[in-house]
Amino acid sequence: MSSNDSSNRVLSGMRPTGKLHLGHYHGCLKNWVQLQHEFECFYFVADWHALTTNFNESSKIEQFTSDTVIDWLAADINPGLCTIFVQSRVPEHAELYLLLSMITPISWLERVPSYKDQQLKLADKDLTNLGFLGYPLLQSADILMYRAGKVPVGADQEAHVEITREVARRFNHIYGREPGFEENALAAIKKMGKKASRQYKELRKIYLEQGDAEALERARALLVEQQNLSVGDSERLFGYLEGGGRIILPEPMALLTKQARVPGLDGEKMSKSYGNAIELRESPESVEHKVRTMQTDPARVRRSDPGDPSKCPVFSLHEIYSAQDTLDWVVKGCKNAGIGCLDCKGPLIDNINAELLPIRERAVQFEENPGLVNTIVAEGSEHARDVARETLEEVRAAIGLSHR
Ligand code: TRP
Ligand code: SF4
Repeated sequence: MSSNDSSNRVLSGMRPTGKLHLGHYHGCLKNWVQLQHEFECFYFVADWHALTTNFNESSKIEQFTSDTVIDWLAADINPGLCTIFVQSRVPEHAELYLLLSMITPISWLERVPSYKDQQLKLADKDLTNLGFLGYPLLQSADILMYRAGKVPVGADQEAHVEITREVARRFNHIYGREPGFEENALAAIKKMGKKASRQYKELRKIYLEQGDAEALERARALLVEQQNLSVGDSERLFGYLEGGGRIILPEPMALLTKQARVPGLDGEKMSKSYGNAIELRESPESVEHKVRTMQTDPARVRRSDPGDPSKCPVFSLHEIYSAQDTLDWVVKGCKNAGIGCLDCKGPLIDNINAELLPIRERAVQFEENPGLVNTIVAEGSEHARDVARETLEEVRAAIGLSHR
């Protein structure tokens, strides 16, 4: 595959933080499951990223990585449809990171909002290491390695995709120039055959003169269809469309997940570190216990006190899990004290457990068969390495480090 017809590639990752919970499921995994049917997806566990903030808790990373992969599989991320891998098993990421570090100004990294935010939030951690400053650039290497066009992430990661775009642009600008670019591009156009050449030239003209984005899209689609262009020529013609040099590393787009903010048991965002989470592999009894002891509208002290669902975290969970008729029943019964809080929690418990049932069943199969999980990760990582090596060959060649 040439670098530029990879816009149908999806890449995303997650740091290993242990067992996943409903927040991960609704905020991210459900979307990943959907995408694997539509695109060529790469999903990976970012264990090196975990080290950037937790280098002194490295002994947990392996267990957390395996927990994460099992939860993905349980959530129906399907290794037959997508590639599942672990970052540190594809050491090529480190080489790309190093090469990108040469062209990345330190100030770009310092001004990524998460750099200062995390330092404030994680004040008890030592974040003075170079690896932490480089966090977004390592993420750029992850993305650019697969020349992924689409990166499904939450809003908190948008700035990291943005810096990835800037780094890619800078890389292409510096290393995509070659003597005689124009002549090479014109020669490449000829190789497409009469009809496609003419179409390409027309669409390029319309785009350059009128900024017509649709013409650009159509020209790109035309290039993707070309069977007889070399990778280099394809890169040239993608670059020539926009007037510049070759595009070796295409700029990715963030696919912002319409994030259902899943409230935790206390109404704050569900998070392992807040201790307010329901895990995907939680037992039905434990789900029941956690929801039954969940906070409700604080104004509703006695059964006879009317409540306000908009002030109740139980209702926020209902909004994710329950159908409209149940929601109507809750609102009415809460406001007129027609139902008690335990009545209200009943259908919620049932709905959460119904969703978790198939997930738990799949999880057990993988828990009982760690060899299978290892094989899935090993095979996924091998495939990822094949793709990564291809990209690195071109990156090295563009810089002038082929030595071959
Ligand atoms: N930083 C991401 C997170 O904390 C994880 C991540 C690492 C990632 N590399 C990535 C996400 C590449 C998307 C693409 O959630
Ligand atoms: Fe919350 Fe339901 Fe109790 Fe109302 S009835 S306060 S929505 S738990």
